[in-house]
Amino acid sequence: MTVKQPDYIASLAPYVPGKPIETVAREYGLDPEKIVKLASNENPLGPPEKVTEVLREKIKDIHYYPDGGAYYLREKVASKFNLDPDWIIFGNGSCEIIEYCAKALLDYGEHSIFSEYSFAMYKIATLASNHGYKEIPAKDYRHDLDAFLKAIDDKTKIIYIANPNNPTSTMIKGEELDRFVEKVPDSVLIVLDEAYYEFVDNPDYPDSMKYIKDWRKDNVLILRTFSKIYGLAGLRVGYGFGNPDLIQKIEKVRSPFNLNLLAQEACIAALDCEDHVLKSKEHVKKEKACVVPEIEKMGLRVLAEEGNFIAVDTGKDVEEVFHNMQKKGVIVRPLKGGYNMPTWFRMSFGLREHDEMFLNALKEVLT
Ligand SMILES: Cc1ncc(COP(=O)(O)O)c(C=O)c1O
Repeated sequence: MTVKQPDYIASLAPYVPGKPIETVAREYGLDPEKIVKLASNENPLGPPEKVTEVLREKIKDIHYYPDGGAYYLREKVASKFNLDPDWIIFGNGSCEIIEYCAKALLDYGEHSIFSEYSFAMYKIATLASNHGYKEIPAKDYRHDLDAFLKAIDDKTKIIYIANPNNPTSTMIKGEELDRFVEKVPDSVLIVLDEAYYEFVDNPDYPDSMKYIKDWRKDNVLILRTFSKIYGLAGLRVGYGFGNPDLIQKIEKVRSPFNLNLLAQEACIAALDCEDHVLKSKEHVKKEKACVVPEIEKMGLRVLAEEGNFIAVDTGKDVEEVFHNMQKKGVIVRPLKGGYNMPTWFRMSFGLREHDEMFLNALKEVLT
């Protein structure tokens, strides 16, 4: 007799993260120091220095449980975004909040909606809670919001939208999103996932805060993260903004102490490091301007709209390209599994020398 698993979990394809440096070093017999990882949209500048100082100081306190309500971090985020503290939810990464939404809100027979070529966790979170989904075909790799509206029925409970979208980097403009938010019924939660919000300079980027603050939309949850521009992916802190009544509904399924003690202290310190945010944003801008034209010169299509990453169509089976790039010590993220883009990979910008190494490896692998 074996331990039986429900079919809906047994058939689940788990999230495939970017491959860690240590794994590639082991598999390919390479020196980890000579490998560059551009596979998980991380910040190549690392964490702010002030954060590492705070972590060193606070490590002596880790025999205590963390503050389960993250009081001081909540106060700090609330003051930065001019919100009351009860408008905020924290997750062990914004991934966890994506899962909480599915767990807390989807009822029997209900489904979520998200776009083709969008962040893989929307499907996983929905399936893991034993619910269905509607994946809306993308329009040349962009969200087709008119088709989203047509797909909504009385069993629709959650709409997940990544803006900019991972992995295609495409951005939905403010005007388009305004029209969409107005038309979605109040009974349907819109999760606006803005993990890359700080990287966007575009004046057409939506001011999503107005949906909750001015329009008083109780069915909008905005997600942000410390993983990307703050360089704290390893600490796992994401946060969401929404009406307190909505936040309370989602809080019911939150794991106790989901933000560890060091993570809370680090994020409090990170919020004072605006210089690091600016530096990181400028760095990405510079690297994008260097890297994208070089790839285009190779005759490849590149999606490079917003965010700290781009998607590249190699025109051939990407697994082979991925394997050959790893041999040269460069890890990108193939988009075959999970994203159904069998000839594409995603790369995030590294330091100048990393991106040079990437370009050289890509040139060699393709010729
Ligand atoms: C669109 C999007 N949302 C959420 C996340 C998850 O971020 P976190 O590290 O906060 O869980 C990512 C990470 O890659 C992402 O690309």
